[in-house]
Amino acid sequence: MRPAVIVTWDFGLQACEEAISAMKSGVNALDAVERGIRLVEDDTSVDSVGYGGAPNSEGIVELDAAVMWGPDRSFGAVAGLRDIREAVSVARLVMEQTPHSLLVGEGALQFAIEKGFTRKKMLTDKSLAEWEKWKQDGACKESHDTVCVLALDLDGNICVGTSTSGTRFKLPGRVGDTPIIGSGFYCDNEVGAAAATGLGESIMRYSMSFRIVEEMRRGIDPTSACRSTLEWALKDDPSLRKNVIGLIALNASGQRGAAACQDGFSVASGDDEHIGLVKIEPVLCPNL
Ligand code: GLY
Repeated sequence: MRPAVIVTWDFGLQACEEAISAMKSGVNALDAVERGIRLVEDDTSVDSVGYGGAPNSEGIVELDAAVMWGPDRSFGAVAGLRDIREAVSVARLVMEQTPHSLLVGEGALQFAIEKGFTRKKMLTDKSLAEWEKWKQDGACKESHDTVCVLALDLDGNICVGTSTSGTRFKLPGRVGDTPIIGSGFYCDNEVGAAAATGLGESIMRYSMSFRIVEEMRRGIDPTSACRSTLEWALKDDPSLRKNVIGLIALNASGQRGAAACQDGFSVASGDDEHIGLVKIEPVLCPNL
């Protein structure tokens, strides 16, 4: 089996390169996904994930993240996690070391501290200045750019991981699609994996990631599965197009695909021979 990875957005290139390189040396898809996402969580130039991610309306960063492991469909997630930069790693430990699947808020923070993560500053000078400006003028650019990594390893195992700080200046306690199974992510070794980026309130209404995987189960290729899911949702509610929604998918053969409802979505896609960025045309897009 050849390794394959697809990651949301241009900033996903570093995660894609890391995950492919790790899997080429024999690391499994779960470790590869975690390593890739951690790079983005630590990258302060990414203002929608991890350290330097956008704060809520009170100026506090609250992170959502998840991982799902294809062989047994186990998953772990955190929501509204404060003061911890490595949200995806905490989500992984929820999956591996608790009888639960989703921890939120104070409970997620206490769990992370028990597991040895240290509380750290989450705001950068830039994210603090943007929040202060928003408090004054209310101007807010759209940004809910989740990092989503789908990976297929040499043993044919599939994993998905997600991480985000959610919508900019959201109400405290708001949770989007990113830690919600079936909406922000889904994964099944027999079929493949899918994940979503964009406005969580829209993505959750249609359980988009689960639907994409079920489309692929019927034999549909990843791009068509993403596109048909988006078209189905847009047909039901054309106003969804006002906000970005980007969908990615990977099947058990390593084929990758994506779809978006607006201009501007991009993915990093790679295997053991080639890694690159691909611009995704709105709704209609070719196989990658
Ligand atoms: N898709 C990320 C969010 O809405 O929080």
